[in-house]
Amino acid sequence: MNILIVGSGGREHAFAWKISQSPKIGQLFIAPGNAGTSEFGTNVEIGVTDFHAIRKLVLEHQIEMVVVGPEVPLVEGIHDFFLADEQLENIPVIGPLSSGARLEGSKDFAKQFMLRHNIPTAAYFSVTKENLESGIAFLRTLSGPYVLKADGLAAGKGVLIIEELAEAEQAVREMLGGMFGQASKTVVIEEFLSGIECSVFALTDGKNYKILPVAKDYKRIGEGDTGLNTGGMGAISPVPFADVVFMKKVEERIIIPTVNGLQLDGIDYRGFIFFGLISVNSEPFVIEYNVRMGDPETEAVILRINSDLVDLFEGVAQRNLADRDLEIDDDCAATVMLVAGGYPGDYKKGDVIADLDKVTGSILFHSGTKFSGDDVVTNGGRVIAISSRGKDIPQALELSYRNAAKIQFKNKFFRSDLGFDLLK
Ligand code: AMP
Ligand code: GLY
Repeated sequence: MNILIVGSGGREHAFAWKISQSPKIGQLFIAPGNAGTSEFGTNVEIGVTDFHAIRKLVLEHQIEMVVVGPEVPLVEGIHDFFLADEQLENIPVIGPLSSGARLEGSKDFAKQFMLRHNIPTAAYFSVTKENLESGIAFLRTLSGPYVLKADGLAAGKGVLIIEELAEAEQAVREMLGGMFGQASKTVVIEEFLSGIECSVFALTDGKNYKILPVAKDYKRIGEGDTGLNTGGMGAISPVPFADVVFMKKVEERIIIPTVNGLQLDGIDYRGFIFFGLISVNSEPFVIEYNVRMGDPETEAVILRINSDLVDLFEGVAQRNLADRDLEIDDDCAATVMLVAGGYPGDYKKGDVIADLDKVTGSILFHSGTKFSGDDVVTNGGRVIAISSRGKDIPQALELSYRNAAKIQFKNKFFRSDLGFDLLK
């Protein structure tokens, strides 16, 4: 089977690595991909929302399945586009239609969905310019810190957590005034939940689901979870506090009601559901939904999936996921992200990455790289994910850190305290 992966980051490199091991794979294409993905397939220089160029590629190369990595093409309706086209309608797209992608594309929609289906989440109020005074009144009923979220996609930057009430009131006004453009025309004001977070992933065919390995990612740039938010500085799987008891609560209170809720709402959902959870005194609450796999969680989680991912994807497409096997490895996995100095603020691109060949025992998933002649050069803030397996988390981390020290590029940076909160 010829498969196209849409996207260009570490998550897509991890998909390419795994999919290329499937006995079912014919030719693999990645649009647009990066220097790492080209080892496993053909990179095609097409943007992830250029649906017409994707259409042409799919027809030209008899592509029989499309796996969508990032959220933007899903929210913009890539799956709807395929279903509306006579020549594409029978080619499965792994990822929801735009109706389901609203779980990530609109925080207000996600909150209403959770309320409707009795899924535990923080109390909230959605505010626009029209009901600003009621929103401010709700804000005043909360105690700090105050959580303000742009309703729409804001490249992971649309959440503000503010200590002081007066400052939060001011921020609500600024958000509605266009701080995040159209995305903050509606602002979700939320109760602050205090606890520890983890990422749970399910693959669903709309009715059946499989729970993938759970992971914890590290979003802040600085040691001890300080400083600015990033796309993710690393990930660990499994998560010790997400034990059998916790995961049973997650399945019963969150995963099942979500999959059933989608059906009840008439949303045909085939793809990944990413539950961003917080454990508050061992009780799970949903912080957010995403409609894709996490990055860098995928780069860790993928090492623990022993089964054929393409077989699972076929189960999604054919709605018989229940008949497919998902075997999860007992080993642990850890991913350390190397980033460019300055990230998540301004950083340079185009620095030569050296000594990739000195890495042993880990798997490298490229995030932001490209070829410049024969050199691999940096091409993003997050540059390379170093993923390792181990009998336990310290062993997996140790291996990733050993290799993190070997790879060289100007102003390389990584967090050296991953797992600090799990390994007390
Ligand atoms: P989100 O983009 O919704 O994942 O939010 C970004 C981050 O803000 C989350 O990973 C949490 O660390 C934090 N956050 C979001 N909502 C809440 C909340 N209700 N209470 C506490 N922290 C939150
Ligand atoms: N690692 C969090 C995300 O992918 O959104």
